[in-house]
Amino acid sequence: MVATSLTAGVALADSSPDSAIQYRKKVMGAVGANMGGVGAIAKGEVAFKEALATHLKGIALAASLAPAAFKQNTHGQGGEKTTSNEKVWTDWAKFEGGLKKMQEEATRIAAIADSDPDAAIKEIGELGKTCKGCHDNFRDK
Ligand code: HEC
Repeated sequence: MVATSLTAGVALADSSPDSAIQYRKKVMGAVGANMGGVGAIAKGEVAFKEALATHLKGIALAASLAPAAFKQNTHGQGGEKTTSNEKVWTDWAKFEGGLKKMQEEATRIAAIADSDPDAAIKEIGELGKTCKGCHDNFRDK
């Protein structure tokens, strides 16, 4: 394969496609697990409102890993199951912007949750929009 990481600052060798796919799924899995916690708290299924800010910070932290995790173009490569579609790399600026937006929203709402979990719960929909907006565009069903 011809090196695809010619972007300035990306000096590390590519991972194998399967490892790259597995890794980015771990990163998104961390986002998803924390969002599951947020949802359970927001719906009142569990009484852990004091944990809300930490889950949101967990999303922001995992989101900060996502640009590097997705950077390697694995389209059509490897045997590992993936739902990322080719647009992740053909429309990288938009994709990366979506990851940044997720991180910003999680950070913003976490700061609210630090002092007022109930006010933060009202904002969770804004975070959820960042997930859906990206998944609708950049994931194959
Ligand atoms: C800018 C794009 C983008 C945003 C924002 C985004 N995702 Fe994703 N997400 C993806 C892509 C692409 C995949 C597919 C990864 C793969 O299979 O290669 C994915 C996969 C996942 C997965 C499956 C991981 C696995 O083990 O296969 C979960 C869970 C997930 N996202 C949750 C979320 C949640 C929750 C949010 C919002 C808080 C979110 N995502 C925001 C792009 C995004």
